[in-house]
Amino acid sequence: MLICHCHGVTDRTIKACAMDGARTVAQVGRRCGAGTGCGGCVGAIRDVLLSARRPLPMVSGPVAASAVLAVAG
Ligand code: FES
Repeated sequence: MLICHCHGVTDRTIKACAMDGARTVAQVGRRCGAGTGCGGCVGAIRDVLLSARRPLPMVSGPVAASAVLAVAG
């Protein structure tokens, strides 16, 4: 889906920027130009960045319990 009409940038490109380490709209702009024209797509870029965030790894079972005990001292 086309997100930035000024620069012809799609959501896939923005997700690729996120996978490459972009965490802000400005960082996406530096990588692919999205959001650096009229600015009308900034909200949509932000939404794509939020959806591209990787979930935290799930930790459960005895490993998680021992980790909690280690942190608690
Ligand atoms: S639509 Fe993205 S900067 Fe204009």
